[in-house]
This record gives sequence, C-alpha cells and structure tokens, in this order.
Amino acid sequence: MIDDLRDFIAACDRHGLLHRIDAPVDWNLELSHIATLNEDAGGPALLFERVRGSALPVLASAFTTSRRMAVCLEEDPDTTICELARKWKTRLAGGSDVLPRVVKDAPVLSNVAVGEAVDLLKFPSPHFYPGDGGRYIGTAHYLVCRDPDSDWINLGTYRVQLQGRNLVTVMIARGKDAEIIYRKYAARGQKMPVAIVIGADPLHFLVSSTHVGTGVSEYGVIGALRGRPVEVFESDLTGLMLPAKAEIILEGWLDLDDLREEGPLGEFTGYYSSAKGTSGVGMEPTITIERVLHRDDPVFWISTIGKPVNDCHMIQAINRSAMLWHELETRKIPGISGVYVLPESCGWFWAVVSIRQMYPGHSNLVGLTAIAHYGLKGVILVDDDIAADDLGRVWWALSVRFDPKRSIQIIDRGRASALDPSLDRSSRYIMSKVIMDACIPFEWDVKPREVTLDATTLRSVARRWSEFGLPATSAIERLLAAGDTAEDRPEGS
Ligand SMILES: Cc1cc2nc3c(=O)[nH]c(=O)nc-3n(C[C@H](O)[C@H](O)[C@H](O)COP(=O)(O)O)c2cc1C
Repeated sequence: MIDDLRDFIAACDRHGLLHRIDAPVDWNLELSHIATLNEDAGGPALLFERVRGSALPVLASAFTTSRRMAVCLEEDPDTTICELARKWKTRLAGGSDVLPRVVKDAPVLSNVAVGEAVDLLKFPSPHFYPGDGGRYIGTAHYLVCRDPDSDWINLGTYRVQLQGRNLVTVMIARGKDAEIIYRKYAARGQKMPVAIVIGADPLHFLVSSTHVGTGVSEYGVIGALRGRPVEVFESDLTGLMLPAKAEIILEGWLDLDDLREEGPLGEFTGYYSSAKGTSGVGMEPTITIERVLHRDDPVFWISTIGKPVNDCHMIQAINRSAMLWHELETRKIPGISGVYVLPESCGWFWAVVSIRQMYPGHSNLVGLTAIAHYGLKGVILVDDDIAADDLGRVWWALSVRFDPKRSIQIIDRGRASALDPSLDRSSRYIMSKVIMDACIPFEWDVKPREVTLDATTLRSVARRWSEFGLPATSAIERLLAAGDTAEDRPEGS
C-alpha cells in the first residue's frame, strides 16, 4: 500500500525504478540538468542524497515513465497510460466524495518551526533553467485552501517561487480554483490561510494537478481513487485539514495586496513564461510563511517542468485522459472506447478519442463535448478499431478516413492556458480549437472496403510459424492463444 512518499520510494526501489545519487550536487542548475538528461533518456526516479547547502535528500524524475505512475496508482508497472486512465475513471464512477479521516497523531508534526525560526533557505529549492527568475521551492507540491463560503477544501499545484527566509510567491492562473477562492478572501479584506504541502502520498500531487471540478474537494477524489480515506489533522494555526503523513508543510497567509515580481520559469510548454506579465515576469501574490512542519529526516520533492516529456507532462497526460473520459461518461455519451491526451503535446493540448459509433452525428457529439475540456487545442476522433494511443494507426485514419473540408470543425473561442506561447500576449486566455473527425461517417450506406487477411489461412500459418524460421511475434502468440476451430485443422490432425 502507498500512503506516503516513503512508501512510493520504497516501491520504486523494489521494482528497480529508483537510483540514488550520493555524489555532491548543486541546487543551482546542476540538479535539474542531471534530472533532465535522465528524463530524456527515460531513466529511473532519482534520489539526490547530497545537495549543496541542505541536509535534505531530493526526489526527482518520479513520474517520467508510465511504470512509476502505475506504481503510484498501485497497479502493475506494465499498465499503459490509457489503461491507467480507464482505471482512474472507473474508480471515480462510484463517486468522488470519500471524506478524509481526521487523526490525532500526525508524523509531520514531529518538527515545528514558528515565526523567527522559519528558514525556507534550508530547503534545497532548485534554480532549474538559466533564464529562470529565481529558485522554486514548489514544483512537486500542492497548495491547500478552504472556500470561506462553504466547507470545500481545495488542493491545487501552482508553482511557488522562493522570495526570502519566510516569503514565497505563487502563480495561480485565472479561473483556477484557488484564484476563485482567494478573490473571495480579498473581497472581505482578508488574507487567505494556506498550506503548501511538499511530499505526501504521491497520488495527492497527481490529483492536485487535476481539475476535478470547482466545489469538489481533491481529498474526496484521492479517497475514491485509493479506496480508503486520506488521513488528515486539523491545523491549530490555519484551521486547514492537512495530510498527516506529508514530508513538509509550510503554513501561512496569501496576500493579494502584496504582489511581487514572479518568474519567469522554464514552463511545461518548453518556453519561459509567466501568466500575466509582458516580459516573462508577472506580479503575483505573496505568501508569508509563519510555520514550517516536517517529519524526521524529510524528503524534498521536485519536478523539472520544462520541455516534454517529463513528470509534469506524464501527470497531465494521465489525469487529463482520465478526467476527459470521466466527463464524457458522466454526460452519458455511449461508445467511448479510449481517451489519450498525448504526453508529447505537453500532456495538455491534444487528445485522441476512440469511439464505437452508434448513430449519425455520434462522433461529432463526442468531439464537441471533448473540445470544451479546458486547455485542449485539438481533438482527433477515430473509430474503435483503432486504439487511442496507437498513433501509427491514428495517422492512417487521418490519411484515409479524413477529408479536411468535411472532417475539420474550428471553434473560434475557447478557454486557453495563459502559458501557451503560440498565443499573442495580449489575449492569452482565449484561443481557437479544432475537432478533427477521422471516423468513417456513420451515415454512409456504402463504407470503404478494408483489406483484411483470411482468418483460416492466418490461423494455419500461425500454427506452422516455427517452420518458417521467423521469430515469434505478439500477433502470432495472440492467434495461437485464440486457438483454432475443428474446420481449420488439417485433415488427419
Ligand atoms: C508540475 C505542475 C506545475 C503546475 N504549475 C501550475 C502553476 O504554476 N499555475 C497554475 O495555475 N497551474 C499549474 N499547474 C496546473 C494545475 O495544477 C491544474 O490546472 C490544477 O487543476 C489546478 O488545481 P485546481 O483545478 O484545483 O485549480 C501545474 C501542474 C503541474 C503538474
């Protein structure tokens, strides 16, 4: 069972998916550059044990392959992104409101620093890329806040820049849940109580970077996905419910009246950006940290963000595939056989949806529903004889089942990511979108005749495969496993 970051690190170790680095490493560029080169090569999760100026080990590259995402979701490491997304949406089908369980003994309360004793500089926050505006303490973490009008607790991952011993800034894009909530506090003339959680059960990070729906608590979603409630304690400082087994928690107050220069950061698009600035630098709210809690021997956690494909893109590919699939099913649209948001599209911009068409206009309904998903720039629709993640065959469909004039639909205005560098800086929140329908039109009474192999010959060839001196393939194994019928057998056998 995985209930905290230590369980996850131990599970990765057991599966041979973790590498420890005991050579000294600098937080200034060196750590992120080692991690990026490792990620580009599809390498293991890294645990840096000696980072200059800090006693804390640093976990990096944790989610860069689907194998470690599967370990986090307590699934077989061979499970693909699409299969993980299917399991995610299936686990949510029973509801996403598993209430957290309040506990008295929270390991994260073992070490407490308050007021003057707070020193964020002791954490190994990396400076990731040469053009970054500073060090980032929050890149694999989440921010907890509570709606002042209800009991809704929101968890969201929004980058956190180190600004001083007890000061950070946070970049929360327009329309994100924490932005909706902090404006309510600001309207009341109040600062917002917040907690920044670094290193809890890694599923928390996965879900806090998911838009689960405004008003829906990520704690409930995590509980539904894990099949057991999240263990929390009630903070006597901020009143927030916080994860008991977190490695590190920074508690304080977000002040919308105190804006400071933030960024740029080498972002998940592969470009430097900030959401609101004109020079890559934005003005963002500060958080004054009043209290730091941590476990004994805490582990610090980072993700390199930056160019695809790394943790950030894999996280988004899985959580956005799963939530898009969940949304289509919640709308009771039948026939969805696969959903895949491509990691290479930054885990954000492009999705493929595979459909078993049942009526004229079915694929169009799926396309129009899917394209409304926040941040998606394009949706490609294919028939269900093509798996959503079989990109070779998706290209085949785009070649032979797709006629641009008939099959493309442009939506003029949709919600965009403010970090999208293809949009003019003056209008970063609105973009056009495209649906590319590569399904054979359902209403055609004469469909193109596809080339297929003769089933009887195939089975007999599969049985004789070894005679031809060719290595066994998965297709041959499948044919043999499917068995044969009496009429396929050669006479006398
Ligand atoms: C590693 C990582 C970093 C992220 N950084 C930011 C960020 O700085 N600002 C932001 O608005 N969204 C960021 N996101 C995306 C949000 O986490 C995501 O939109 C999430 O749904 C926000 O939570 P909310 O839906 O509760 O607002 C990041 C995602 C990941 C995986």
